[in-house]
Order: sequence, then C-alpha cells, then structure tokens
Amino acid sequence: MFITFEGGEGSGKTTQVRLLGERLTQLGYQVMVTREPGGTPLGAKLRALLLDVESQVEPRAELLLYAADRAQHVATLIRPALADGKIVISDRYADSALAYQGYGRGLDLTALRQIMVFATSGLQPDLTFFLDLDPQQGLARRAQAGASNRFEAQTLEFHRRVREGYLALIAAEPERWVRIDADQPLAVVQGTIFAVVEERLQLLQR
Ligand code: TMP
Repeated sequence: MFITFEGGEGSGKTTQVRLLGERLTQLGYQVMVTREPGGTPLGAKLRALLLDVESQVEPRAELLLYAADRAQHVATLIRPALADGKIVISDRYADSALAYQGYGRGLDLTALRQIMVFATSGLQPDLTFFLDLDPQQGLARRAQAGASNRFEAQTLEFHRRVREGYLALIAAEPERWVRIDADQPLAVVQGTIFAVVEERLQLLQR
C-alpha cells in the first residue's frame, strides 16, 4: 500500500506522517516512511538546491528538478519497498508538483501530468491525505517556528492558488483522496487518519 500526504506550508503533515508510521509499525506492519523532495541521497542534494532562498530557479527547471528527485525516489526506494510488501508513506509526491508547479506557478497541467507519469513510471498512490489549512494560518505557523525556505517566501496569492489546485485535484479523483481539516487538534487529525488507514488495511486483508 502506497500512502501519500499533501498539504500547504505549516499544515502539520510531517508530524502526521511520522505518527502514522509509528502506529503501523507498532501494529506489526513493515513500514517505510519517506519524503519528497529529499528521500534519497541524490534527492537530499536536490532538496537543498530547491529550497534555498538564494536559488534562482525558473518554473520549468524547478519542475524538472522535482521530477528528477521523484524519479530517483520511485526507482530506488518506493518501488523496491512496495515489492518487499512494505507500506510506503511519503510526505509529498506527484500531486505536489501539480499543485505547486501547475496551479501555483501556472505551468501547463497536461504537459506536467505527462512528465509525472514518465518520472514515476506510472506509480500512483493508493490513498492520499490532504491536510487542509488556510494558507495565511499555515504560513504564520511556519514563521513562528522560525522557518523560511524559497516557498515560504512566496506570496499569499501563490499559496492560495496551490490550495485551490489541491481542491481541484480532489474533486477530479475523490476516491483516492481524504481531505482533513488541519485546523483541528493534532490528536483529532491523527485519529481520523488512523481510522481511514485501518479501514483500508482491513478491506485489503479480506
Ligand atoms: P516540505 O516543506 O513539505 O518539506 O516541502 C518542500 C517544499 O517543496 C514545499 O514548499 C512544496 C514544494 N514542492 C513543490 O513545489 N513541488 C513538488 O513536487 C514537491 C514534492 C514539493
């Protein structure tokens, strides 16, 4: 089973990815928790380039660097782990490119989808959580944490387009997505995620 988490800045997805990984491991599942960008050694270098506020990156170059990170990630980590029977949980995946580079930067969505299929050799998540938070609130959370990367420095308008993009992706493929209001207490978000995943796992085992 391949589970991905998506959301805007400060939505709390990284914490939820970790908690879900711990919970499934406790239940006896073999789990691999990973992230994009930066899940592999090559990806870690690309991540540093992509998030550095000093980097000047054109939108098309940005998209292709994320695609390179993803291609390496799928080929060397995700597919082998799935083949081993592990549950793979990734903090971001191809939907991030559609939301940020497609809806946020305005790159052509059709071209972008083709590049995503090429980069991932067609691997799609089974289940995707969208932790939905008002972008203004999310950016304030990140600023409070003292964090600043190239995306956090984008305008509020950019982050609003990203959120609208996610909502459009969910509307187009509702059976894969679960949207969760990330403004709720952490434990409530966590509980909802566990309930959905446990139900899916039971269905698979039947
Ligand atoms: P993170 O803050 O969730 O670690 O993600 C790093 C940033 O990279 C985040 O602002 C979203 C951005 N991003 C893209 O723009 N396109 C992508 O394909 C991915 C995976 C991330």
